[in-house]
Amino acid sequence: MNKITIAIDGFSSTGKSTVAKQLAKYLGYIYVDTGAMYRAVTLYAMEKGLISDDDFNIEALVYQLPNIEISFKFNEILGFAEVYLNGINVEKEIRTLKVSGFVSQVAAVSQVRHKLVEQQQKMGKDKGVVMDGRDIGTVVFPDAELKLFMTASAEKRAIRRYEELIGRGDKVVYEDVLQNVQERDHIDTTRKDSPLEKAKDAIEIDNSSLSLEEQFDKILQLAKMTI
Ligand code: C5P
Repeated sequence: MNKITIAIDGFSSTGKSTVAKQLAKYLGYIYVDTGAMYRAVTLYAMEKGLISDDDFNIEALVYQLPNIEISFKFNEILGFAEVYLNGINVEKEIRTLKVSGFVSQVAAVSQVRHKLVEQQQKMGKDKGVVMDGRDIGTVVFPDAELKLFMTASAEKRAIRRYEELIGRGDKVVYEDVLQNVQERDHIDTTRKDSPLEKAKDAIEIDNSSLSLEEQFDKILQLAKMTI
C-alpha cells in the first residue's frame, strides 16, 4: 500500500497525540511526538540550570545543543515510542506543568528548532509516518499528503490537560493549567520562527464537541481517502 506522511498540527492539549497514536497504530505507521522533543530539550535546560522563573541563558543552551541527544524507543507494552534524553527515559519527567511552563520559550529559539526539525525530517524521510506538533505541515513536511489542524476552546483543552495531570497523581490547580495553555498558545502563535499557524492546505478539525471515537473515525476516513 502507498505510504504517506500525515502532519497533525494544532494548539496545546487538543488531543493531537492521542489521535496520532491511534492512527499510526491502525495504519502500521511510525508515530513521532515532536512536542516531546522540545520538552526533552527544556528538561535538559532545567537540569543544567539554564532556565528558571527569572532567567533563561539562551546562549549557553545554544552552545550545549551538540551535547543533547534525543531519541525514541518503542515500548511494546504501551504501544508507542517513548522519548529518551541522552539515553535516559524521560517520558514522565517531560510532562510536568513545570516543563510546560518553560517549553514554549525554549521552542522559540531558532537553533533549537533547526536541530529538531532536521532530526524530524530524517525520521520521516521514508514516509509511513504520523507526526504531531506545531509546524509539521508548514515547515517540517510542507509536502505532506494529509495535513490536519486541530482546535478546541482553551477551557476545554485545559480541562482535558488538568484531568490528565490529576490522573497521573500531579497536584495541580485548574486555573494554573488554563493559564499555561493560554500562555503557550500566545508564545507559539506569535514567535518569529515557525509560528503555529494552519497550513493553507490543512483540514481544520474542531474537536470541542467530538468524542475520541468520533474524532478518530473522522480522521481515519480522511487518511483512507488520501492513501
Ligand atoms: O505538543 P506539546 O504540547 O507537548 O508541545 C510542547 C511545546 O513544544 C509547545 O507548546 C510548543 O511550544 C513546542 N512545540 C513546537 N513545535 C512543535 C512541537 C512542539 O514549537 N513541532
